[in-house]
Amino acid sequence: MANIEFKNVVKSYGDVNIIKGLDLSIKDKEFMVLVGPSGCGKSTTLRMIAGLEEITEGDLYIGERRVNNVHPKDRDVAMVFQSYALYPHMSVRENIAFGLRLRKMPKDEIDTLVDEAAKTLGMTHLLDRKPKALSGGQRQRVALGRAIVRKPSVFLFDEPLSNLDAELRVQMRAEIAKLQKRLAITSVYVTHDQVEAMTMGDRIAVLHDGNLRQVGTPLELYDTPANLFVAQFIGTPNMNVAKGQFTEDGTKAKMGPVEFPIPEKWKAVAKEHGGKEVYIGFRPEHTLPDDEHDWTNTATLEGKVDIVETLGHEVVVYVTIEGLEKRIIAKADVHKTPTPGDAMKVDVNLDNLHFFDGVTEESLLVKG
Ligand SMILES: Nc1ncnc2c1ncn2[C@@H]1O[C@H](COP(=O)(O)OP(=O)(O)OP(=O)(O)O)[C@@H](O)[C@H]1O
Ligand SMILES: [Mg+2]
Repeated sequence: MANIEFKNVVKSYGDVNIIKGLDLSIKDKEFMVLVGPSGCGKSTTLRMIAGLEEITEGDLYIGERRVNNVHPKDRDVAMVFQSYALYPHMSVRENIAFGLRLRKMPKDEIDTLVDEAAKTLGMTHLLDRKPKALSGGQRQRVALGRAIVRKPSVFLFDEPLSNLDAELRVQMRAEIAKLQKRLAITSVYVTHDQVEAMTMGDRIAVLHDGNLRQVGTPLELYDTPANLFVAQFIGTPNMNVAKGQFTEDGTKAKMGPVEFPIPEKWKAVAKEHGGKEVYIGFRPEHTLPDDEHDWTNTATLEGKVDIVETLGHEVVVYVTIEGLEKRIIAKADVHKTPTPGDAMKVDVNLDNLHFFDGVTEESLLVKG
């Protein structure tokens, strides 16, 4: 069993607290993605699992074993980095075999493992080439091969795809996810790209500023974000957020110029928090021109089109709404593309609203 447990793990450099008491359980065979903005402590967390960073406080377990003081080479983990770090003068075969040779594994065993890995990664025909004769994606596959042949109990990935072009990234994303399922090895994958996180992870852990903000399946994070940070971090374009307030009796909410009845899901919450200042969140896909949907439960916002981004299959429209601090993002049918300067009425689907505490920014529904 290679589950990974962080128990109140703290990491500091001198007085600077980088990870501030992390509790996180990663299940055996799970694909866990750590996501968050640059500098939030993702690589540090991964490196603690690898044993490349000391743990300041708390406990880290891999399986049954507390590994705080276990040497990296005795942890049975393999790490794949953003830079592939291949040896340029060695062939692909030698690169993949390198770690095994250091361990003094017999040559025929090494050959079998390398051949098996090459087959898994579809690069048997590349084994005699040097890295400089490979594409970026092929080099990344060699780096994966090097990790696979070690048959570790845990795979660690630190932004392994960020050097690849967009198309290849999509392809490798799918390949790695498939490979992980096939090999059934517990994996922790770091990225700052929320699309990568959403498409690859069994579960996602969102880190911000050294704190775990939420952990859940991609859809849990999308449907029920626990706080404003996760709400705005997951999903493109970003969730719209406006300041608002529940009416004193808790039956309605006010948002800029509009007042609307509280949707079913939030009725009890609004009643409990009558008069409260809140943040109201609604995603662009739940914000459409008033004649382009068949929703029944909506609030209408009137404004002026600011920016129009045509993506081909849809249009993203930035609309300035009188009485709202920030312009909102709506989606529209590509065949009815508006023009900047147009007056526009957009409807918000009230069945997909989110309410957050106006002070703590925590969801009023999810207990973080
Ligand atoms: N050796 C160190 N000494 C002091 N501070 C450090 C050290 N290593 C990292 N840090 C700081 O710790 C914080 C977290 O760094 P980390 O590399 O984990 O971020 P990250 O989430 O991986 O970011 P990115 O997405 O940019 O890779 C950063 O503010 C960084 O400056
Ligand atoms: Mg990093």
